[in-house]
Amino acid sequence: MSLFKLAVLISGSGSNLQAVIDAVSNGTIPNAKVELVISSREGVYGLERAKKHNIANMVIGRNDPVMLSKTLEDKKIDGIVLAGYLSMIPPEVIKTYKNNIVNIHPALLPMFGGKGFYGIRVHQAALTAGVNYTGATAHLADREYDTGDVLVRSVVPVLSGDTAEVLQKRVLSVEHRTLVLAVKALAENRIDELAAKPLTLINEEDREGVLEFAQGLTVLGKALTDADRSDL
Ligand code: GRF
Repeated sequence: MSLFKLAVLISGSGSNLQAVIDAVSNGTIPNAKVELVISSREGVYGLERAKKHNIANMVIGRNDPVMLSKTLEDKKIDGIVLAGYLSMIPPEVIKTYKNNIVNIHPALLPMFGGKGFYGIRVHQAALTAGVNYTGATAHLADREYDTGDVLVRSVVPVLSGDTAEVLQKRVLSVEHRTLVLAVKALAENRIDELAAKPLTLINEEDREGVLEFAQGLTVLGKALTDADRSDL
């Protein structure tokens, strides 16, 4: 059986990239290969991670959509993982890879998503809004920012005294498994199934509070109330 070839697109330290590499090499994501790492920026640590694992890697700037399309085609990439990629994917790539591009976002979408919500700003917005819970969302990428079908969500409580930096770290630690579950579904051709019934991961001790919180949120309410996993 041929391996499902993944391209992982990054812009930074690549801890999510590392989670995908590890999941592929330890068999959590079977039948897949990280074929290529593309960074939108020079000199980022994620590129070092790719080199260490002998994965083909390159920098393609945000203004070079033709190069991006051509590279993905040349490498016969089957699916794309946006792992902290800070650029918009060109429409032609979205079209070619429809339902085959997974993004990880450091909040419970649709909260704190959309243009301008990236990096520490997402966590600052969560603190300013005074929410009790935030988290991470793996979703399909479409032509807008952070609006594609949700695949997997993980819920993270906001604690009193949290700074944006502390919250960012706590969220990052759940992003990895959130993304890995979505990429596993991508490589196993189960994306439609997951999009129809997204997975929500909630810590057992947070469950009651989260359900109460979800009742006040019309968009998230149903998905969180239907949560069928609690293995964070
Ligand atoms: C993560 O918070 C991701 O959700 C966001 O950028 C960060 C990237 O972290 N879009 P890393 O490069 O995977 O360590």
